[in-house]
Amino acid sequence: MTDDADSLLKQVEQLHQTLNYHSHRYYVLDDPEIPDIEYDKLFRQLEAIEAKHPELISLDSPTQRVGGKILDGFEQVTHTIPMLSLSNAFSTEEIEEFSKRLEERLKTNSFQIVAEPKLDGLAISLRYEKGLLMQATTRGDGQTGEDVSQNVRTIMAIPLRLTGDDYPDVLEVRGEIFMPKAGFAKLNQLQIDKGEKTFANPRNAAAGSLRQLDSKIAATRPLDMFCYGIGSVEGENTENPLKTSHSQILQQLKSWGLAVCPEVKLLNNWQQCIDYYDSILSRRADLPYEIDGVVYKIDSIAQQQQAGFISRAPRWAIAHKFPAEEAMTRLLNIDVQVGRTGALTPVARLAPVFVGGVTVTNATLHNQDEIDRKDVRIGDMVIVRRAGDVIPEVVKPVLSERPENSKAFRMPDHCPICHSLAERVNDEAKSRCTGGLFCPAQRKEAIKHFASRKAMDIDGLGDKLVEQMVDDGMIHTIADLFHLSFKKISQMERMGAKSATNLLAAIEASKATTLPRFIYSLGIREVGEATALALANYYRHLEAIQSAKSEDLQQVPDVGPIVAHNLETFFAQQHNDEVIDKLLEAGIHWPEIIPKESHELPLADKIIVLTGSLSIMNRNDAKAELIALGAKVSGSVSKKTDLVIAGEKAGSKLKKAEELGIEVMDEAGMIALFKEYNNS
Ligand code: IVH
Repeated sequence: MTDDADSLLKQVEQLHQTLNYHSHRYYVLDDPEIPDIEYDKLFRQLEAIEAKHPELISLDSPTQRVGGKILDGFEQVTHTIPMLSLSNAFSTEEIEEFSKRLEERLKTNSFQIVAEPKLDGLAISLRYEKGLLMQATTRGDGQTGEDVSQNVRTIMAIPLRLTGDDYPDVLEVRGEIFMPKAGFAKLNQLQIDKGEKTFANPRNAAAGSLRQLDSKIAATRPLDMFCYGIGSVEGENTENPLKTSHSQILQQLKSWGLAVCPEVKLLNNWQQCIDYYDSILSRRADLPYEIDGVVYKIDSIAQQQQAGFISRAPRWAIAHKFPAEEAMTRLLNIDVQVGRTGALTPVARLAPVFVGGVTVTNATLHNQDEIDRKDVRIGDMVIVRRAGDVIPEVVKPVLSERPENSKAFRMPDHCPICHSLAERVNDEAKSRCTGGLFCPAQRKEAIKHFASRKAMDIDGLGDKLVEQMVDDGMIHTIADLFHLSFKKISQMERMGAKSATNLLAAIEASKATTLPRFIYSLGIREVGEATALALANYYRHLEAIQSAKSEDLQQVPDVGPIVAHNLETFFAQQHNDEVIDKLLEAGIHWPEIIPKESHELPLADKIIVLTGSLSIMNRNDAKAELIALGAKVSGSVSKKTDLVIAGEKAGSKLKKAEELGIEVMDEAGMIALFKEYNNS
């Protein structure tokens, strides 16, 4: 080899190492060290050398992750060691039985247990030979799977070469390939934009991506992987720690550059396992990937061997499953609900079905476009999904079970409640009832909103009571709330003298309010708490807001053309003015807002970005308070940003702030700041 060729080879190897180091930091450790643009520069350097010297392109070059030739099909591969499945438990009792059986078999009740999330993706076996990724095989039937190496090589979290030098000659790594929730949402949006079919869930999307015959397509799919075990281990370096314990195996895999789920924990008894289950279940919705339970594995390999296997599952491990988030049931009918702002929402009436831990009878269908896209018809068997506390939704029909008399649904062109015209305006997906406060459905929602905690905060005036009052004709507008009589209230169903007295006292107490609360309580479209506060601080008097024109309104921080238009139209309607007059006549009042020149405000003109999740304050309240103190709250971090407030799990915005050297404060710091300024 000439000197030149030698130095070129060294340069290529150096680039491999540097690029691998940074993609491991980025994709496996979630802790990038350099900005993306620097990575891209190095990548292009390597590409340029390889273009000139194709003989230097090696199998493990970082440039080889982009996908290769289109395949006709996948080769079948027999697993050297079968890929097992897990027994399932659906309750604490079943876990207790499992632990008792193990204690009897192992003649001890002292064992350590590794608890891991049960990832909802696809099992994969990666075969590394002398540290190089040679083959990736799906689980298949456990004995034989398919060679999906080309696609797997495009997954950035999977090293093409192991790091270190203490790995065995042959190492099979087993784990789960999955699609993170965020990537799944993006992919589905892209599919919608392209007019293509969407995937029902991240698992299907991951499976579809892994079975792509064109690996260039697979390369665009946001797949990820966590490792949870090993298969064949041959040659040198096969002794400890791979033979000692499961936790040490995972530790070892990490040190070779493979990703292990950060939620994995080593525990000392079954009670800790149950606590782990509860804790993961409560955070399920916040995890960036889908899981369908947790897995407990006896840690000691010696104890694992003692326990052995039963048919195709180990006796030393069990999956403790979460309540299923999807279930199948019959769509009996589609009703149309009318919201506060007149939006018509189709709601599926379902044969009762147990899903996500509760019995569900209604699910949202969003709008006509969604119904068309999913091709859901009345009478269909449908898949219903209820994830965490999210409103249940209909995912899709089960076409193979479609009855002959299934009926397509059309949104009515009139409001089902007040029969006013319903129309779709400005390309909105939803149609809206044009009846305004004439429509009893909208009236009910407007009154519920008016009474709610962040608005006028009328204690004891719940949704059911409002509905009953409107249905009984006791109130027509929010102003009527202030003329309710003791007699009428106490005669209502389930109301007695005591509740009537309490309710009247609460209504009376609500009259002393603040201008921002009052504006918010009017339920003007898209005028939330932060906007109401900004309006109050800017204009200080209700009359000034009522008479402001759209252009002027847009001078207010947080008010854009749409909100300005909504405000102007709201106050231009005579019946709204009449209701406001009546409310004021009834005695609603608020303290005067002491004028402060905007430049006198403590955070005047400071550009602040809120990121991550807040655990003490509500995000909107925090935003409103920042605006009230004179700050401009922006959605993205740039050189102009003065301060970033980072809640829990802050991600890229926090990173960017740190890169740009911008001041960062946590939630507690922000609250301390509010206290300081509000006392001055
Ligand atoms: S261990 C011998 N650990 O669950 C044990 N499996 O029902 C083999 N899975 O095919 C599997 N997360 O696809 C294991 N932390 C985890 C897992 C996990 C998800 C899947 C895997 C397997 C299936 C077994």
